[in-house]
Amino acid sequence: MATQEFAPAAYDPFAPAVMANPVPFYERLRAEPGVHFIEKYDTWVFSRFQEIIDVLTIGDNAFIASESTLPSEDMLMQQHHGGGGTLPLDPLPGFALLGSPHYEALRQAHIKPLQPKAVRSLDTFVRGLADQLLDELLPKKRFDLTQDYGGVIAASVICHLFGIDLSKAREMLDMVNSFSRTDEESGGIDVPAMLARYAEVIGETVERRRAAGADGEYPLIDGLMHLDHFGRDLSVEEVASQLVCVFVGGTETAPKIGAHGLMELANAPSQLVEVRADLAKNVPVAVEEMIRYCAPAQWFARTAHKDVQVAGADIRKGQRIIVLFGSAKWDEAEFDLPQEFTWNRMIRRVLSFGTGQHYCFGIHLARLELRILVETFLRRVDSYSFDMDAAVRLPSSFQWGWNSLPVIIGD
Ligand code: HEM
Repeated sequence: MATQEFAPAAYDPFAPAVMANPVPFYERLRAEPGVHFIEKYDTWVFSRFQEIIDVLTIGDNAFIASESTLPSEDMLMQQHHGGGGTLPLDPLPGFALLGSPHYEALRQAHIKPLQPKAVRSLDTFVRGLADQLLDELLPKKRFDLTQDYGGVIAASVICHLFGIDLSKAREMLDMVNSFSRTDEESGGIDVPAMLARYAEVIGETVERRRAAGADGEYPLIDGLMHLDHFGRDLSVEEVASQLVCVFVGGTETAPKIGAHGLMELANAPSQLVEVRADLAKNVPVAVEEMIRYCAPAQWFARTAHKDVQVAGADIRKGQRIIVLFGSAKWDEAEFDLPQEFTWNRMIRRVLSFGTGQHYCFGIHLARLELRILVETFLRRVDSYSFDMDAAVRLPSSFQWGWNSLPVIIGD
């Protein structure tokens, strides 16, 4: 469909045409002056790179993801008319729904194993996983590069950090995939059902840590168990709900980027030759372009808890903002020829990991995993292609990426 065929007001993250391919809609939004407003959702839509940075870096609890960072269509249909500002603190919801200082206290309590030094110490473990998986997969000559390779690596690392037996990695991966799948009817994700199931699974591991004394061996969980949160301990359920973001974020995104990135290299043989010329030096550079070009998350939301004026938008308390990271990566004002994959392009900054308060704190692990999974694959495989007739990129209001990419090994 040509971009000119529809007006910007047709943009709706839950519309079937947008979920099937949002890119032309983003082009139109960026070309129109001002910040787009969706009246029925009482929601402002930011589509340009710089404007997204401007709105997400406003502090002072002006914007809080109090209705979740991924509200469903039903949630957005409820208008607040200047209200919508209460934040429940007992029991504590997941930290992502809270403002300062609760957000930061909870984030800091479990960030330790994802900081650079701790992540570097996972290098040998992740390399071992990648090699071991390829030992099993390569003789088959055909497998799903997203799920069977990157997916199992990412889920295994999450199991490792949570103290879950590695044999459960595939089960965890399938669970995250099934919950992240957009409902074809409603266009959304059943957030309450999803959170309840995660709380149950993660709750079991939290219980185990409590029984074992939470001695710091698993700082992701133990850090939260030892937190004195404004004068009280967190319950098992409260600890579990803080960990959902890491559990999901750590499992579902990197595999789609790695598989898609390897496909882009296969589609551009001269780039693949250049990257192969020095894998240790070039893969980290190529991975940055993969992160820009292939990141599947399309948007995240916040609710205004104050009246704010930004980028010409007059945002009232109770309204929502949606930031389109999926559009920012195609912004011609930020990148030359953004729709082309160029392994060594100049990248001054990216929004694939977000910005501001919610900036992805799995960033170091994501980079480590991607570098290792891409480098190991290219080191072990001389030639590969994809069965695109069997590839799957499901329509999604949120994670629009290659859910399944069957790779064929050899000529
Ligand atoms: C290449 C892979 C990844 C990408 C592109 C990515 C992207 C993002 C983005 C865009 C956000 C910001 C969401 C917002 O603004 O509301 C985010 C937040 C987050 N990510 Fe990642 N992520 C990746 C990998 C990971 C990994 C490996 C982990 C953990 C092991 C992780 C954990 C988190 C957490 C805990 C948050 C904070 C959520 C919040 O404060 O709302 N991510 N990620």
